[in-house]
Amino acid sequence: MGDKMSGLFITFEGSDGTGKSTQAALLANLLKNKGFEVICTREPGGNQISEKIREIIISKENDKMNKMTEALLYAAARAQLVNEVIAPMLMEGNVVVCERFLDSSVVYQGYARGIGENIINDINKYAVNGIVPDITFLLTLPPDIGINRKKNQQELDRIESSELNFHKRVFKGYMALAEQNKDRIKVIDANRDIDEIACEIADYIEKLIKERSFKNGFKNFRS
Ligand code: TMP
Repeated sequence: MGDKMSGLFITFEGSDGTGKSTQAALLANLLKNKGFEVICTREPGGNQISEKIREIIISKENDKMNKMTEALLYAAARAQLVNEVIAPMLMEGNVVVCERFLDSSVVYQGYARGIGENIINDINKYAVNGIVPDITFLLTLPPDIGINRKKNQQELDRIESSELNFHKRVFKGYMALAEQNKDRIKVIDANRDIDEIACEIADYIEKLIKERSFKNGFKNFRS
């Protein structure tokens, strides 16, 4: 499927509280202002069915959820988002900016919950349908800072309320994944000014689009 996809698929990854939503929205706006057709979405969620699955996953009522049930629910939410939103947009040559994708399952369920990367990739094979992000921004913050930031903003959900050791494993998992996928995953220090981070991300995107001559190129980018 990947070969027929002419669009650009950008994902944001990172522990909870690292500022993914802010940066995804800023990048989507920047690209829209440059004339691209852009959709900014999130996982789990991004459409009616996947948002319902999200509620089941993150609800604190479901504290008995088995880790395999959790992994399968994330994959189910992903399958719906890919088919309903991501694949059609990419097929038309447009831009998709997505908060979290398969890397989140590899790290949270595969690594931090201990299911293993291979099983997570197997489960998700039919959900992602061959789609791989063109570029992934991994926003990094020490795990305690991220989770404290979240705590100050809102009540923590079922996953966010996990013990600090879980969040530390998530952080370690992300760093290992970035090391294995240096070409695709760009590690971004999120302990900085919002604008400074946005500028670094914009520079990567400018380079990528120039390289690929995406649509009409990006001659006017940041002019
Ligand atoms: P969010 O708060 O970033 O929207 O994501 C909800 C929670 O779900 C967050 O704690 C990360 C977690 N998550 C997984 O554990 N596996 C996944 O595959 C995804 C997409 C999210």
